[in-house]
Amino acid sequence: MTGTIQKNHASIFGTTLNQETYQHLYQQSIEQPELFWAQQAERFITWFKTWHAVNASDFNKGEIKWFQNAKLNVCYNCVDRHLPVKALQPAIFWEGDNANRRQTITYQMLYERVCRFANVLKSLGISKGDRVCLYLPMIPEAVIAMLACARIGAIHSVVFAGFSPHALAERITDAGCKYVITADEAIRGAKSVPLKKNVDEALLQAKVRKVIVIKNSGASIPMLLPRDVWYHEISRQASLECEPEWMDAEDPLFILYTSGSTGKPKGVVHTSGGYLLYAAMTHRFAFDYQPQDVYWCTADIGWITGHSYGVYGPLANAATTVMYEGVLTAPDPSLVWKIVDRYQISIFYTAPTAIRSLMAFGDSPLSKSKRDSLRILGTVGEPINPEAWRWYHDKVGHGKCWIVDTWWQTETGGVMLAPFPKVGNQKPGAACLPFFGIKPIIVDEQGKEVEKTQKGFLTISQSWPGQVRTIYGNPVRFFKGYFVQYPGKYFTGDGAYQDQEGDYWITGRVDDVINVAGHRLGTAEIESALVLHPAVAEAAVIGIPHAVKGESVYAFVTLVEKQIWQDSLVGELQKEVANMIGKLAVPENIECAPKLPKTRSGKIMRRILRCIVTGELDKIGDVSTLAEPEVLEQLISAHQAKIKS
Ligand code: PRX
Repeated sequence: MTGTIQKNHASIFGTTLNQETYQHLYQQSIEQPELFWAQQAERFITWFKTWHAVNASDFNKGEIKWFQNAKLNVCYNCVDRHLPVKALQPAIFWEGDNANRRQTITYQMLYERVCRFANVLKSLGISKGDRVCLYLPMIPEAVIAMLACARIGAIHSVVFAGFSPHALAERITDAGCKYVITADEAIRGAKSVPLKKNVDEALLQAKVRKVIVIKNSGASIPMLLPRDVWYHEISRQASLECEPEWMDAEDPLFILYTSGSTGKPKGVVHTSGGYLLYAAMTHRFAFDYQPQDVYWCTADIGWITGHSYGVYGPLANAATTVMYEGVLTAPDPSLVWKIVDRYQISIFYTAPTAIRSLMAFGDSPLSKSKRDSLRILGTVGEPINPEAWRWYHDKVGHGKCWIVDTWWQTETGGVMLAPFPKVGNQKPGAACLPFFGIKPIIVDEQGKEVEKTQKGFLTISQSWPGQVRTIYGNPVRFFKGYFVQYPGKYFTGDGAYQDQEGDYWITGRVDDVINVAGHRLGTAEIESALVLHPAVAEAAVIGIPHAVKGESVYAFVTLVEKQIWQDSLVGELQKEVANMIGKLAVPENIECAPKLPKTRSGKIMRRILRCIVTGELDKIGDVSTLAEPEVLEQLISAHQAKIKS
């Protein structure tokens, strides 16, 4: 292969974001997108070979292609290229679950540890294009393993460590992973999570060649030979040098499973060039990232936020990041703010659920820290209520930090809408403005653009480099899921409106996806788990408002003939969901329904169920499509009887 490493032409810090520069760059990005993205690609990324075409995407075919034929290595961009000037700068301050488990990892150390890991992967036969499943706690090896995969061109599929063995097996099989990287256990305060045991259980249903086990808690665990290998043993002789594999910009970087409104979780595929550019650029601009900043994104690497803003975006920009192993609120709700002081964190990015649970402890945990290093406070994953926004702004940030409420999705790769620092307005709960190159269009059911202030469906009318490329192994589901509803546009699945000033507000999902504590869950997946129980005939799951989690899972079940409802079924059904998906999806409430409200075509009218539970009977609206109108009365009286009991 021919090519040379291209030097970046301009510093990524050349632009100071303000109202004027935002307007200018936004306009350019929409009017001359090819020129805009080419310039940014040269600025943010070090390429081994340049591209033939900037953007060859076609929404009408569901084809997304950026920087075709260009070559780069994502790991090289996140590590190697920083070494000449930043070798000794901390890349990761790792805060373990207790003070004895702290580590500072410089870029030089990161380089060596990633190369060693990459050599181990190669020695086990892993090569370009192989899928590798990561089921890991928030330990440095999680980031190192991701980067090591990227270095040799293997495609990682990180599965959140809270998923059950069954859910893990499903994801391993769907992606055709032949290798799993895990740890003996995850440490969560007084508790531990038996990761290797979960993997063993998953692998009764899915077959792989090798399981690489990282020693974390030190618990004694059974190893199945020759399948299982200890990382600390196999890595002893591994070299600290490993040539990066030069990848095509459109070669997949990772698969990440997320929930859809129907069927099984979908493997969102992101590729190398466009994704990295978008993650790096949005990290730089959404958080006004500056070289002296210390940055902490609290998201677990099992979610897209952990990928884009815990790993790839900040490391591509040579940032110093903080990584935390434990639980944000336990055992001590002041701990998170003490970490802010310890590392003098200036940019802090978390989820509204975390803010609300910290707020629930009152202001006294705040008094044990100063937090005067903070400059930017970000939120992501779900709508933030004004009360939480104000507490974050007034109390956590002493009223002097910009609150960046970022709206985006696993599929978008990076931030799409946000109140960018020093640009535009600050409104509690508003996602405000589009990022460069993002053209949101709010449409009605027929696809016609709605007037300002009117609610509609949020679509994006032109491609951006961080856009999902496909659903792994299922291009038809990809096309049908995002491009057929409004031809020529990407459909987000969210509702939105623009206020009089043009700022965007997200009104929530308009499909059968719910958002519990910032975790995206498909109602269909939970329903499938519930109906596995022999007593259950049918199930309908809804999300209902919850003070801390945003939404909680509420399930209605109908029983098979002759089955009588017993309260013990609640626990049994909760266990079924925990086994099939994980504790994160367990319904808080399960109610026995006489029948489910269905349309004549058999679709469950979840809207009706939601209104019954929230008591907003006046909002039930049109029920003329109900196949059996009498079901409504029956459901209302059954629910009222349940409340009374
Ligand atoms: O409904 C939106 C909500 O989370 C969905 C995307 O979930 P996921 O793919 O898991 O990615 C979460 C992290 C990027 C969106 O369709 N959502 C995300 N951010 C916000 C939000 N809703 C309101 N405000 C946000 N800032």
